[in-house]
Amino acid sequence: MTTSQTPAAVPTLTQDELKTLVGQAALKYVVHGEIVGVGTGSTVNKFIDALATIKDQIKGAVSSSVASTDRLQALGIPVFDSNSVEKLAVYIDGADEIDGQGHMVKGGGAALTREKIVAAQSTKFVCIADESKLVQTLGKFPLPVEVIPMATQRVMAQFAAKGGVGKVRMKDGAPLVTDNGQHIVDVTGLQIADPRAFEAEVSQWPGVVTVGVFAFQKAQVCLLGTAQGVKTLEF
Ligand code: 5RP
Repeated sequence: MTTSQTPAAVPTLTQDELKTLVGQAALKYVVHGEIVGVGTGSTVNKFIDALATIKDQIKGAVSSSVASTDRLQALGIPVFDSNSVEKLAVYIDGADEIDGQGHMVKGGGAALTREKIVAAQSTKFVCIADESKLVQTLGKFPLPVEVIPMATQRVMAQFAAKGGVGKVRMKDGAPLVTDNGQHIVDVTGLQIADPRAFEAEVSQWPGVVTVGVFAFQKAQVCLLGTAQGVKTLEF
């Protein structure tokens, strides 16, 4: 991993201000005249707001969730179906955790499946995050897994055999339903030492739609909001 940093130190900033900073910093990776891949979450919302200021210089976006699509369209940014676009130069998204190799845990906003799809069609993944997300080993944040509802008990039993504790994510007293009509199991107690092997294994369990480990679709760049400014990590 190589690290570079903006020269000027910034005064103490809130987490929200750090998100704004990295959201704005991501604009320099947007290729003018092209369609940009857009993730989901509170940090990406800052990026979408910044993107609106250059909307006349891009064709539009491919979005990873209904929430991001709504925000993009409300700001006048055209949203394209992922099937209508063969390749994207860049995908900008947040993360719940990122390690020193660019592997991530994602899905805190329940959008992991579409995020992985758009990341897979993009040449470069630029992760935007505040420094609380940087970890040595993935597993601190509960691992989101999108699961077909009839398989949640079985999948949780498989995680228990690995020392993990799974819980179906709830919303308003009922299991949360994703944009794809599935449920989310959040798993605590894991130490993911080999993210590629872990992702490959769990992805094959019956009923698993998407596991929130992004090792095959890892980040090439991370713009990390820190008290010293935006750090650029390259993997
Ligand atoms: C949504 C995600 C988000 O990228 C992740 O949860 C980070 O979100 P935030 O920027 O709000 O901290 O994976 O499914």
